[in-house]
Amino acid sequence: MQRYEGAIFAQDHYKAQPTDIFICSVPKSGTTWLKSLTFAIVTRTQFDNSTSPLLNQNPHNCVPLLEIDFSRKGIKPEPGSLPLMSTHMPYASLPKSIIDSGCKIVYICREPKDSFVSLWHYASKLRAGLQEPMSLEETFELFCKGFSDYGPYWDHLLGYWKASLEQPEKILFLKYEDLIKDTSFYVKKMAEFMGYPFSLEEEKEGKIQDIVQFCSFENMSNLEISKTGKYSSDSILVEIKTLYRKGKIGDWKNCLTPEMAERLDKITEQKLGEFGLSFAKNDA
Ligand code: A3P
Repeated sequence: MQRYEGAIFAQDHYKAQPTDIFICSVPKSGTTWLKSLTFAIVTRTQFDNSTSPLLNQNPHNCVPLLEIDFSRKGIKPEPGSLPLMSTHMPYASLPKSIIDSGCKIVYICREPKDSFVSLWHYASKLRAGLQEPMSLEETFELFCKGFSDYGPYWDHLLGYWKASLEQPEKILFLKYEDLIKDTSFYVKKMAEFMGYPFSLEEEKEGKIQDIVQFCSFENMSNLEISKTGKYSSDSILVEIKTLYRKGKIGDWKNCLTPEMAERLDKITEQKLGEFGLSFAKNDA
């Protein structure tokens, strides 16, 4: 079952529980990082940095994807099990029970130029040896016109953004750039939002810093599993190391021409500006 059929299957069959916590994103916005962080927060009383399943599993195995893992393998949070699930589905396409159940959603988005560049590099690696390479220009044109997995990039952000303004207690809207700049602050915030707040003792013991350090790009990308492991994406075996490229703000400058950047900035302003969603100038 491919992910689009899987999304339809989930719409028809997924019964969300109020205790579920959904990690939502457009691909290449920092999903792998957010999964590591939320998994580490939620499991911190069970595991420490020397016993965490993240040491020998790809973070995507630790937080199942609704449209693949639920639809294909029936994996879902059970009473007493970890409440974490994830999806790339747009807000408007989520199974109705997710909206109605009152479960929590943590959404991450990323500055569109960096997200596009990350996507292009990733897609190029996936196609290598299997399909004709797609040029940067060709991929850029499609992206600007809204042809992306899971629908137009900006609509994806806007769906969750508007919902987060209407129901801030239910949807936490994060930006990759903010998470990079003050990871500790957002780890604390996420923990509170998800119902797993850090106690004063934990804060004093440096538990937040431990999680930040453990889930950092440096640490995660240097784990043996990240260097040598593989995972299956839509039936293609992919090296886990493709999930970790640079992990930096502003890498678009190494790839896009000033004209391309200006075009994406204009679309972003036109689509998101009037709704109060923007990216800091020095992140763009
Ligand atoms: P780059 O390609 O710009 O390096 P996703 O997980 O949604 O596929 O997003 C992938 C992007 O997140 C990649 O960006 C990747 O390097 C970055 N990333 C992965 N793990 C990270 C981490 N622990 N900290 C910061 N960025 C990370």
